[in-house]
This record gives sequence, structure tokens and C-alpha cells, in this order.
Amino acid sequence: MIKSPRGTRDLLPPDTALWNFVEATVRDVFRVYNFHEIRTPIFESTELFARGVGEETDIVSKEMFTWDDGNSPEMALQASWAAQYQNKYDRIEPWVVGPDKRVPFFLGHREGGWTIIKLKYYPDARDLRQLEELATAEFDGPGDRKISKPTLAIAVPEEAIPSLRELAKDIEIQPVKIPDWFEPPRSLTLRPENTAGVVRAYIEHKLWDRGINKLFYIGPQFRRERPQKGRYRQFYQIGAEVIGPATAGSQSPARDAEILELLATLLDRVGITGWTLELNSVGCPADRARFNEALRQALAPVVDKMCADCQRRAVTNPLRVFDCKVPEDQPIIDTLPTINQFLDDDCRLHYEAVKQILNAVEIPYVENPRLVRGLDYYTKTAFEFTHGSLGAQNAILGGGRYDGLSEALGGPPAPGIGFAIGEDRLVLSLTATAESVLRKPDVYVAPLGPGMDREAARVARELRRHDLVVELGDESFRKLKKSFEAADKIGARYLLIVGENEVAANAFALKHLASGEQVTVPRAELPQRITQQK
Ligand code: HAM
Repeated sequence: MIKSPRGTRDLLPPDTALWNFVEATVRDVFRVYNFHEIRTPIFESTELFARGVGEETDIVSKEMFTWDDGNSPEMALQASWAAQYQNKYDRIEPWVVGPDKRVPFFLGHREGGWTIIKLKYYPDARDLRQLEELATAEFDGPGDRKISKPTLAIAVPEEAIPSLRELAKDIEIQPVKIPDWFEPPRSLTLRPENTAGVVRAYIEHKLWDRGINKLFYIGPQFRRERPQKGRYRQFYQIGAEVIGPATAGSQSPARDAEILELLATLLDRVGITGWTLELNSVGCPADRARFNEALRQALAPVVDKMCADCQRRAVTNPLRVFDCKVPEDQPIIDTLPTINQFLDDDCRLHYEAVKQILNAVEIPYVENPRLVRGLDYYTKTAFEFTHGSLGAQNAILGGGRYDGLSEALGGPPAPGIGFAIGEDRLVLSLTATAESVLRKPDVYVAPLGPGMDREAARVARELRRHDLVVELGDESFRKLKKSFEAADKIGARYLLIVGENEVAANAFALKHLASGEQVTVPRAELPQRITQQK
């Protein structure tokens, strides 16, 4: 049996009803806050995440699904070489030697002996040395043929020739013209998060012309994590980003507070109670540099007792030590300085202003000076909402400000703030069940007798036009009992009988399944009658 890949899952009815309820509700909330939807690609250039999210983060260094897209350069070279050089030899034999079996050699024979030909798209000095070593020995060629003192050739794309000329002395260089269809490979990655993609789109489409952009998205994200409850390799995020030029007000603490208030409303509307908003300020890059320096000093005497990841982080990006999940390291991490001691006046005032607005709109929060978030782009406000029912993976959502991200991606200054909700976790922490949001069929239409399928189809079509949920049976159910069972199984409210007599009279037997009450209703009155009674 073929199963879904590790860390992925199928969402099936009736659970999907709960997902749709959540998504419809959040769309309503986004509308009243004047956010508009953005849809960006599910995969992007790997470089976007490396530069945006940060090379040292767990997400980029360990968890991305990355692949090379485009034509294999060696294949392109091989095919082109064969087309251009085959008539220079009376025979050509493919040959692989040594550990580097991926790079093909060919043996070409013509009058005067054999030539060893190496094909290499990106040649360097090592390739030439490897060829020269082969030439000195006598060796067993294909079919146990002894080959001695062959001549040497290297086949490379035309563009690579200038760099080789100096290096290759007794080696013939065979220029290969690479055809136009060849697309050089490019590294792509399934998006592990959507902020970098949104900011890329902001830059690509010059969205600053629109002033402040209030954008939301709903969609899958991919991280190669160890799966457990609430943690998947394909998971879904509902997120939003507010981004624009500073002149449009994108830097204001009012934006931070509005995002947090929106989130409180959103969780409330979806039906989640008992969340905790954890709040912090991670400062600006200058604060972070001072903080990182203090961390480096604090870590120096203890880092050799920490895990290998922390030892690396302590050198490259000490802030990331706070992402460590190794239990033995936690007592050490607890002794480290916190960022709030390093905030400059601007960052401190910004943080104070955010808190004052939150107090005014009565959104409760808990300050957590150790909250640094696992992505490098954050500045100033950083936050998470946690929920007790979720166990180890208790962060239902996270977000913060990223005032330097656009510039890090080559765009103009564009302060921004946003969040992403883990939709899987949101659904897990809902007390509502799929049953409570599922709309059951209003009526089961049961054709009775031969030729009644087409009459039943007409009636069903009329009822559906009135927005009634209709399940349509078929005339192969000879006995009405079978239709009743089917209607019962799907939880329909009514059963409507479409038989020859009913069609002739243009009035139909309508049975309310819970009470058993049956009435005959003229065709034109059916929609109204079905809508009336629960
Ligand atoms: P994040 O904290 O990496 O932030 O992810 C946000 C939320 O996505 C988490 O709080 C969690 O609920 C959910 N999540 C993350 N990984 C998984 C997983 N493997 N399985 C299930 N749920 C998961 C970001 O992604 C930022 N882009 C948020 C943001 C937007 N910051 C500013 N704007």
C-alpha cells in the first residue's frame, strides 16, 4: 500500500468542515480589518530563505525541502558532445573510472590509437590532473583491452575554455556548444514560511506605490521536522503582513497593537479561549549586536558543556542559542542575559507604546524577555500566542516586526509586521467539533420507479437553486426502505418521494425524518416548506 509521506496527512470530511469554518471565519475577520489576500508560489529560490530567514536558523540549516531544478549540466554536455564529435572517431566507448563515477569518460578510437576523453561542465585543475594520471599508466580498458599511452582530451562548454588554456598542456580541449534549450539548474525550496515570499513579492511588484499593504494568506508550508502531534512536515498557516514605506506609517507601534488586537479577535471568533499572548522586544540590529556580544562573553566559559549546535551558534549567531531544545542546556540558557537590557531609547519607547495601546483595548499579555523567535529577520516587537491544550507544541502562532527584511532582500526600506497561525494547531485546540459546523443535507430526493431519475434530477435542481443542500438518490433503489436508510445515514432532514403519481399531480410526498410526519406539498411550495421546519 502506498501511504502519504512521513509528516503529511490527508484531511478528510467531516474534519475538513472544521477547517473550512476556520478559514471562512478568519476571512471575515480580515475583511473588517481591511486586509486583502495575497497568494505567492509554494516554492521559491532557495536564496530567498537563506537571506531572509537566515542561514543559521534551524529552518534554513536543517529543515528545508530543497532540490535543483533545470537540466542536468552533464547530460546536456554529453548529448551535445556526442552530436558534435562522434564522426571524429571510428568508435567511441563509454567508460567510468575511479570513485568519481558520476562524471563520464569516453574512450575514442581513431587511427593512431585511443584517446581518453573526460566530459565536464564545470572543469577545474583537478580534472586535468586526474586525466594526466590516467595517461601515465597502462590500464585495462573496456573488454580487458590493454591500453597504453592514450592521448587525452577534455570536452567542456565553450565558455569554460579560457580558464583551461593555461592549465592544460598535453591535453586536447574539445569545445562543446551547449544548445539553447539548456536551462542551468537553479536551487529551489518548498516554502518553510511565507513572510520572505510576501516581501519578495512586495519588492518585485513595487507594492510601495500602494502605500501601506495589509495582506493575508492561507496555505501549506513545508519543514522537514520530526513529526509529532501538532508538528508536521506539510502544515498550514494563516498569516498576515503589514508592510510599506515608513512614510505611510508602517513603522508605527499602532500597527503592532492592531495586529495583536486582530489576533485576539480572530481567536475569539473562531472559538478559542484560554490563550496566552507572550510579548517581547528583540530590539534593532545595533541592540542585537551588543546583545550578541554579551551572549558571546557569557557563553565563552560554559559553551563546552553545551550541545554541538550551541557550540556552533555561540560563534556564528549566539542569539540562536535560545532556540536550543536540549534539556541539559536549559539551565545554562536560563543564566544568559536577556535582550531587554540592551534596547536603545527608540526600541524601548516603541515597546512601551505597543503595551499602552494593548492596555487601552484590554488585550492581556505576558512579557517574556527570553522570547527571541526562531527566524533572524525580527526587530522590535516579537510575540507568540500559546495554548495550554497543545502539549509540547504549544505555540499556536508567532510573529513580529521585521523592519530590515526588505533591504536584506535587495529592496527599499519597508518596515513591516506580521504573524502566522499554525492552522493545524488552531484546529487541534478548538473545542468545536466538525459535527457542530457541518451543514447536513436538508433533503434526500428519492426517485421511485423506472424513469423517475430524470424527474428527480429536475426537482433536485430546483431545490438547489434555493440554496438547499440536496442529496439525490437513484431509481435503482427499488424499495423505499433503502432510500430511507440512505437518508438516515447522511443525516438528511427530509425525504422527498418522486414517483409517477407525484409527477402527475405536481405535488410530492415530503417526510420529516425526525418526527415521521408526512405531507403532500405542491412543487412550487417545496423550497419554502423545507426551509421552514428544522
Ligand atoms: P513560525 O513561528 O516559524 O513563524 O511559525 C508560525 C506558526 O506556524 C507556529 O507558531 C506554529 O503554530 C506553526 N508551525 C510552525 N512549524 C510547524 C510544523 N512543523 N507543524 C505545524 N505547525 C507549525 C513564521 O512562520 C513567521 N513567518 C511568522 C511571521 C509572519 N512573522 C512575521 N510575519
